[in-house]
Amino acid sequence: MALYVISHHHQISKHIINKCRRAARYFMERCDIDTHQVNIVLTTDEEIRDLNFRFRKIDAATNVLSFPFEEPDDSAVHLLSPKELGDIVISFDRAVQESQTYNQPLQQRLNWLIVHGFLHLIGYDHERSEKDAEIMLKKEHDLLNEYKNQRRVLMPHLAVNVDHVATIREARGIIEPDPVTAAAVCELAGAQGIVVHLREDRRHIQDRDVRILRETVKTKLNLEMGAAQEIIEFALDVKPDMVTLVPEKRKELTTEGGLNIVSQKKKIARTIGKMTKANIPVSLFIDPDLKQIKAAADVGATFVEIHTGAYADATNESLQFDEFELIRTAAEEAHLLGLRVNAGHGLGYTNTAAIAAIDPIEELSIGHAIISRSVFSGLEQAVRDMCEIVESGSFY
Ligand code: PXP
Repeated sequence: MALYVISHHHQISKHIINKCRRAARYFMERCDIDTHQVNIVLTTDEEIRDLNFRFRKIDAATNVLSFPFEEPDDSAVHLLSPKELGDIVISFDRAVQESQTYNQPLQQRLNWLIVHGFLHLIGYDHERSEKDAEIMLKKEHDLLNEYKNQRRVLMPHLAVNVDHVATIREARGIIEPDPVTAAAVCELAGAQGIVVHLREDRRHIQDRDVRILRETVKTKLNLEMGAAQEIIEFALDVKPDMVTLVPEKRKELTTEGGLNIVSQKKKIARTIGKMTKANIPVSLFIDPDLKQIKAAADVGATFVEIHTGAYADATNESLQFDEFELIRTAAEEAHLLGLRVNAGHGLGYTNTAAIAAIDPIEELSIGHAIISRSVFSGLEQAVRDMCEIVESGSFY
């Protein structure tokens, strides 16, 4: 798919462009034109008026214009891939006015204009006849409703990291509290996955924990690990449902940054190759950095887990918004490259809902906040409360 959303209007934020791109991508997929190229330009009343006059001899602004791509007769354009479908030009000024007139959220209005433009590009025309107008209107309604409701099908999931339970156990060097029991309680409370990090220094989770969890976890066991030979062999023997490769430094308190895939592509590709042979999907824990996302796709990862630590640690709203935008853009880019997307680190009861609402994100991996709250509210309640927040992402 080649989809370009371009702004010619100074009031349009990256946030709006991303939302338009996401909606447009969905409509292209649903209309089976996702192998084509489409350009969407969000512009001013002045520019659309000019285009309306030049191409349709109408001296007035309008809300949306579609320009189907016309192939020159003698062209080798047939051979070009992706095939150009055309351009959609939308007046952002009009969209703002219309959203006020019809008392509709601005993004909803923009989505309607995008659908309208697309349908014109693929041959629908409400001006041809009353019957055609009816058909086009119905198609618009159907696509917009499907888009609005899609998150109710693709509900994001919560996977609970139970390392901290083992940390408490190891502090005493005895047998309790048991992370295996904790995992069972988390599943009973609605968690859709259990995550453990088997560190080289075995500071919390032990080999035995992972082997028992392999037998007892009923949802999905995700083993976090560094790409050390000994741990790779262990993973190949235990066969968790998936592994997440993380960078591991001996002195860190918890995983600090994401993996630098760009600088160790060969090593990571080799590890992925071994896991793939054993049918174990691999996720790569990376910062929301487009270079790393691209490298993750290049080395054949199935998932990326986007590091949300900088977002969680942001000390004011503006910084938090910037970090959020990086995560959203990274998630969308990863999805476009065919990667499945998870996220985690530092998420808690007040900052998770917004991340869960990012469309391509399938699963959030959360540990510290849940285990901390469980001291006061009990583990089952702490997991239930977090599940509710994560699932609210589908209604955001
Ligand atoms: N994801 C990864 C890759 C991690 O290393 C961790 C921490 O172990 C988490 C998620 C969970 O982070 P937190 O404990 O801050 O929720």
